[in-house]
Amino acid sequence: MKRISIAIDGLSASGKSTLAQGVARALNYLYIDTGAMYRAVTLFALREKLIDREGQLDEEGMKAALPRVYLTFRFNPGSGKSEVCLNGRNVEKEIRSHEVSRHVSVVARLPEVREKLVLAQRRMGETGGVVMDGRDIGTVVLPDAEVKFFMTASIEARGQRRFLELQRKGRSVSLEDVVDNLKERDRIDSTRDHSPLMQAEDAIVIDNSDLSIEQQFDHMMACVQQVLHA
Ligand code: CDP
Repeated sequence: MKRISIAIDGLSASGKSTLAQGVARALNYLYIDTGAMYRAVTLFALREKLIDREGQLDEEGMKAALPRVYLTFRFNPGSGKSEVCLNGRNVEKEIRSHEVSRHVSVVARLPEVREKLVLAQRRMGETGGVVMDGRDIGTVVLPDAEVKFFMTASIEARGQRRFLELQRKGRSVSLEDVVDNLKERDRIDSTRDHSPLMQAEDAIVIDNSDLSIEQQFDHMMACVQQVLHA
C-alpha cells in the first residue's frame, strides 16, 4: 500500500488537530502539528523578552535569535501524541497558554520564521506517510499532497470548543477573550503577505459546525481510502 501525504489546513480552533491525529493513528502515519512549532517559537520569543507589553515583536532580535531555536518532536506514549520540544525541553503544556495564543500570529507572519519552519516541515514530510496540519500545508509546505482538507466552522462553534478545552485544563480565561483571540488570529493569518491561510484549489472543504468528530472522521477516511485504492 502506498504511503501518501495528507494536508489539513483551516481556521483557528476548527478541530484540525483532533481529526489529523485520528486519521494519522488509523493509517499508522506520522502526525505533525505545525501550529505547535509556531507556538514554540513564540514561547521562545516571550522568554527572550522579544515581545513587548503592547504585543510588538522585536523583529530584528527575533531574526538574530532564530539560529538558537531548535525544535524537535518526542512521542509521549501517555497522550499518544508527538509533543514539541524547544531546545530539548518538552513545552507542550506551555505552548497552549492563552499568552502564547495572543502573540503567535505576530511571530508566525515573520518571513524568516516561516522559512525556517517550512524547511523543517518539508523534510519531515518528504518520505510520505504523514498527516500535517496548519495554515499553509496544502498551498506551500506540501503542495503535492495527495489529499488536502480545509476545515472551517462558525466562530461560535470554534470559540465554544476552545473555551471548553481550556477550562478542562484549568485555565482561567473568558469565552469573550477566547473568541476575540480566534478572530484576531484568523485576521492576521489570512492577511499576512507571506503564505497566508488559504484554501488550496484542490482541497476538500469540511464545515464542521454541526458535525460530530465521528462524522468528520468517517468522511475524511472515505476520501483518503478513495485515493489509496485509486
Ligand atoms: O490550534 P489552533 O487553531 O489554535 O492553532 P495552531 O494550529 O496551534 O496554530 C497557532 C498559530 O500558528 C496560528 O494562528 C498561525 O498564526 C500559526 N500557524 C501558521 O502560521 N502556519 C501553520 N502552518 C500553522 C500555524
